Amino acid sequence: MEDIMTEKLNERPSFASSSVKTTDDKKAMDGKMEKIFSLCKRRGFVYPASEIYGGFANAFDFGPLGSQIKKNIKDIWWNKFVIGEENIVGLDSAIIQNPKAWEASGHLSSFSDPLIECKVCHKRFREDHVAELKSEIRNHKSETNPNDKNSNYQNLSQEQKEMLYCKGKEPHDFTAAKNFNLMFKTFIGVTEDSTSTAYLRPETAQGIFLNFKNIIQSNRVKPPFGVAQVGKAFRNEITPGNFIFRTREFEQMEIEFFVEANKEESSKWYEYWIKKVREYYRDLGIKDENLTIREHDKAELSHYSCGTSDVEYDFPFGISELGGIAQRTDFDLSQHEKVSGIDLKYFDEASGKKYLPFVVEPSLGVERAMLAVLCDAYDESDGKDGRAEGEITLRLTPKIAPVKVAVFPLVKKEGLPEIGHKISKELRENGIETFYDESGSVGRRYRRQDEIGTPWCITVDFDSLKDQTVTIRDRDSMKQERIGVADVTKCVLDKIK
Ligand code: GAP
Repeated sequence: MEDIMTEKLNERPSFASSSVKTTDDKKAMDGKMEKIFSLCKRRGFVYPASEIYGGFANAFDFGPLGSQIKKNIKDIWWNKFVIGEENIVGLDSAIIQNPKAWEASGHLSSFSDPLIECKVCHKRFREDHVAELKSEIRNHKSETNPNDKNSNYQNLSQEQKEMLYCKGKEPHDFTAAKNFNLMFKTFIGVTEDSTSTAYLRPETAQGIFLNFKNIIQSNRVKPPFGVAQVGKAFRNEITPGNFIFRTREFEQMEIEFFVEANKEESSKWYEYWIKKVREYYRDLGIKDENLTIREHDKAELSHYSCGTSDVEYDFPFGISELGGIAQRTDFDLSQHEKVSGIDLKYFDEASGKKYLPFVVEPSLGVERAMLAVLCDAYDESDGKDGRAEGEITLRLTPKIAPVKVAVFPLVKKEGLPEIGHKISKELRENGIETFYDESGSVGRRYRRQDEIGTPWCITVDFDSLKDQTVTIRDRDSMKQERIGVADVTKCVLDKIK
């Protein structure tokens, strides 16, 4: 968990882990990221932002399929935790808050990364990332030298070459590290001075603490209870990268779960949330074997935390953080109480005690979940499974798939489109994402849907005119069965469940 204060420095950089391995396996994994990137662009999952103006470094737009996947990821989270749990309520707080909030939370003073700059080429990097890459190279006993073709230099990624060598020739001559605050600044109103400075939120969590008093006063909640929020967060990352893994603008899904103020209660709920978060990633279709829970050791913990775990995923570029679960004690509420001067204590009528609850925080990133889902689902045929070699199938779990059903009339005439449109309309009316397509060969239409992960295709043929039946084809088994036109919606709804 890239918690504020110390954890930010301890997060594994996205290009670390297996990045300097020289095996074929590593090359294949690098290739996989490129293929996913290319599929995303080609099929409308993710586009480079501002592309017609030459792009904008590490900024992305989510196309028709990507925006639907992101929505599905957030809906599954909201349904599971806000609707699914009796004691969790939702919130949608402002992105720009009173700057005092960031003073209290510690973000103004401590939400920073160590920045170093090459005195010659003026490229800037995170000192901890450069140090980690150098240490990896040492651990692999691997020489990298741009002037020696026999060294492992060519196995470094472009990003790594830039981190180590100035203009691709000599090692950089770096300045001493200085702390660089990651919050984006803006100005409120017409003047641009220190009195009008405000910040884009670097996490959604603080909006929850700011509303703690409002929520306990306006809702019948009492610890243990949680407040959930999903929304944009902004960080002026020094080294964004690895596609949508680390960007400057991203979405978080966070719960602040308030419990009685003691370590035992906090630890109990911490274990509960580790289990629940793991279950959530499973619901997204992420394979268990690619997930690990990594408990922070003492040195890694922030001063107020009594336990933090990262959920990590085995990405093609290395094992990296997907989300985290942290025990934050009463740190945030007590800071806001101190700086605002407002009493934020909860009064427990049963015991007559007043206290600041402890907090357990599961905090997950939407784009990282999407990237893990895509990495897990991406499958290229070896040519032995009835598909041509190299054909792509995205084996997305149906709940995540941006299109659940595609409807294909065999031909564009003789009454088949009418049946197709009727089926498509009924599916849509039942909230099922449906795609209608009546041109091209059916085989090609199937392949296009396999590539975007559509679990089922319905084909309307000439028999449909006679007996009011259609075929339903399963993406993974490629098996087809005949079902009644009137049964399509129920059949699909049952399968999604
Ligand atoms: N409130 C706690 C908090 O913000 P964090 O570990 O800094 O903790 C939580 O962030 C999650 O947000 C991360 O696990 C990750 O999924 C996502 N995240 C953080 N920085 C990100 C970035 N620059 N790009 C994409 N996702 C990011």
